[in-house]
Order: sequence, then C-alpha cells, then structure tokens
Amino acid sequence: MFKLTQALKFALPFLAVTSVYAASSALEIQARANDSAQCVVQATPILSFTSSQWIWTSELTSPDGSAPIGSRAFRKTFLSPQGKTPSFLTIGFASDDEATLWVNGNAIVTQVGWENPGSYCVSLENCDCGFLIAFNATNTGGQAGLLVDAVVTYTDGSTSPIVSDSSWRTTTGGIPNGFQQSTFDDSAWETAETEGGNGVAPWGHVQPAGAAPQSLATSQWIWTNEPSPGSYPIGARALRYTMTLPPGHTSGTATVMIVVDDQYSLYINGRFIGTGTNYITPQKYVAAFQGPKVVLAVYGENVGAASNPAGLLASIQVTSQDNLSYCSNCNSVTYAITDNSWKAFPGPVPSGFEQPGFDDSAWPQAFEVGPNGVSPWNTIAPPTTVTTGGTPLPGAPAGSA
Ligand SMILES: *[C@@H]1O[C@H](CO)[C@@H](O)[C@H](O)[C@H]1NC(C)=O
Ligand SMILES: *[C@@H]1O[C@H](CO)[C@@H](O)[C@H](O)[C@H]1NC(C)=O
Ligand SMILES: *[C@@H]1O[C@H](CO)[C@@H](O)[C@H](O)[C@H]1NC(C)=O
Repeated sequence: MFKLTQALKFALPFLAVTSVYAASSALEIQARANDSAQCVVQATPILSFTSSQWIWTSELTSPDGSAPIGSRAFRKTFLSPQGKTPSFLTIGFASDDEATLWVNGNAIVTQVGWENPGSYCVSLENCDCGFLIAFNATNTGGQAGLLVDAVVTYTDGSTSPIVSDSSWRTTTGGIPNGFQQSTFDDSAWETAETEGGNGVAPWGHVQPAGAAPQSLATSQWIWTNEPSPGSYPIGARALRYTMTLPPGHTSGTATVMIVVDDQYSLYINGRFIGTGTNYITPQKYVAAFQGPKVVLAVYGENVGAASNPAGLLASIQVTSQDNLSYCSNCNSVTYAITDNSWKAFPGPVPSGFEQPGFDDSAWPQAFEVGPNGVSPWNTIAPPTTVTTGGTPLPGAPAGSA
C-alpha cells in the first residue's frame, strides 16, 4: 500500500462531452425543466459509504490483502425498477491507489488516493432505465481496494442506493479493451471479493467531501523545490493548482482556507481574491467561478533579512453544478489540499502566472515540507470567519476584473 497524499485529476473533458449530452439540446433540457410535472426537484443526496464494501479481484492474498501491481476493471450494471426514470447519479469512491470512473462509457473523473474522495453528480437524462458504472482501478503496490457509494435519483424524487459489494463484476490479470462500454459482455467475469466495510484496516474511516467540515488537517506545507527546504531564499514565488471539473460542470463556488509563511495574495481563475500577512493566521474565502476549470494561483512571499522557513498551507472545497440537470441542482463536491500535485516555480514570479491560461506544464512539482503541525509551525486550526476585501501585496499582480 502506498499512502499517496490526495490529488485529484479529472478526466479530460473532451473524452466525455461526446455522448452524455449528444441526445438532448439545451432547448429540450430547458423545456423539460420548465415542465414541472415531469419531475420533483431533488437535492443532491449526501453519501456516506456506510453500506459499502472494499472490493478487489480474487488476486488478493491473505492475510494482509495485498494484490499484484497493476490496473483492474470493475463493472456494475444497474437497471431501474419499472416505471422509474433516472434523473441523476450521485457517486463517490475511494481507491487504493487510484481509479478512473466511467458512466455509460463517459469518463467522469480520476482520483488519486483514498483519503479525500469527492462526491460527483452525473446527469442521467438520456439513459433510459439502465446504466453502467465502470472503474479502472490501479494498485501501485501492497494492499488494493475500491470503495463506492452511489445514489440514483429518479424523476419522481425517489432514490435507489448502489454500493460496491460482491455483486460487482471484475477480472484478473489486466483490463480488456472497451471494458467501460455498455455493450461490453462481462458475463464470463468473476464477481468481486469483499474486504470489509468502511472503517476496516488499513484504510480507516473514509468520508466523502461535503460530509465533514472543511479543515486544514490533511494539508501539507509546500514550497518550491529549491535546496534547503528549512531555509528558503527571501522573495516572492508563484504556486498554482488546477482542478478540472467533471464534464458539464461549468460553474460553482470555491471555499479556500489558506496561510503562507510569510504573506500571500490569492487568485482564482485570474481574479484577485485576497491577501494575508500573518504566517500563522489562516484566512477563508468563498468565491464563485465559471468552469470548466478552477485555477488557484498564489503569490507567496518569504520576507526577512536572510534565508528562513517558507511555506503554503491550504485546502479547497469546490461545489459545482451540472449545466444540463433539470430535476435537481446536481451538485458535485470536490476537495483538494496543498501537496505535490501543485506546481511551484523556483525563481522570480513569472508575469501573468495568475491567469488560468498560463502554461505551467514545465514547472516542477511543489515540494512537501511536511504536514500541518510540522516544525517550525504550530498546528494551524481552520479559520471560521470569511475574509472579504483587501488589495494585492506590493509586487503582486492586480488580477483580472
Ligand atoms: C422556459 O422558461 C423560461 C422562463 O419562464 C422561458 O424564458 C423559456 O423560453 C422557456 N423555455 C422553453 C424551451 O420553453
Ligand atoms: C488504467 O489506469 C492506469 C493508471 O492511470 C493507466 O495507466 C491505464 O492506461 C488505464 N487503462 C485503461 C484500459 O484505461
Ligand atoms: C454543458 O456542458 C457541456 C460539456 O462541457 C457543453 O458541451 C455544453 O455546451 C454545455 N451546455 C450548456 C447549455 O451550457
């Protein structure tokens, strides 16, 4: 088991837009939305993993549940009861070590690690009475498992649960081509082996984003990969994190908790959000944004007369909406922390770095200085009040309007 810190990387939207939305025009969707007799508007269910089992293939070995390194396919075909029309699917999953989710052949999201699972809403408006959930789950060593909790909401407001259990189909040895398509025949596959419910070792209790209050508990202090992490050169550095939302999720709200040793200005999708100037007092911001991406950019400054500790500690929770849902707000909730999935530029701040279109592909990964609580910082508690207003630090970009 490799205990990867949480990182989220979403499937490229172009993989998914092709067929989920193909059958309905925006006008048709709007017409259905206007026809209130067609559905009872439903809130997005809160997931819990309470009835879910960790599952894997029959390749698990006793006593510790380790499995061969590699990717395995998992499939669950769901048929709705007669007379029920699915409206949307709310689904969350945790995977040791990572997994990509497909619904009816459309890539929805790739999640790395199991500690901070998201909760994803997938519109099912064109899928008739049945649909297919498929995973490519990858074990990079040691124990392996996949834990899934989902709820299908029908147009009449009623729901059905779907959880990972021994009814799921899987196969040993590798992943056949086309495994994620509804037309693929999995009748010769084995059924999944169960490894215990939520809370079982080695994973412990898993909670989906949105079910627990946001905090900084699992965040890492990060900075650049410059030498001597305990004593960085003074001056400003640029750090960036990009979250691509699930397909069709084009707007939402981001809640950011953030502190920098020594001070920072924060930007979301190029817009200035706020400035903090105390290295142990975090701030909390709530900002609306337009998707399909959320780019956090931090102008972080290490001040002093000589080299000294520097770091950025943050968490971000994003709630976004499917643009075509008509029987609900179809919310997805995703959670990310500061870790080495951020990018950090080890030199003077490049001009325009705060803009979402800026190309950071050549930047190195951020360096993880240590978890919240590591010396020389005290444990940083989550801020409770929302900060508004402020101006960029001297030298920091103004940001777009
Ligand atoms: C849906 O309702 C809105 C607001 O009443 C209206 O502007 C729009 O034209 C309607 N769309 C359709 C396709 O009926
Ligand atoms: C499954 O996921 C792994 C890890 O991301 C990737 O290397 C592999 O190509 C994927 N396989 C398929 C068939 O999607
Ligand atoms: C909804 O999102 C999809 C996928 O990003 C996009 O192709 C489509 O144009 C969007 N529709 C509307 C009405 O915004």
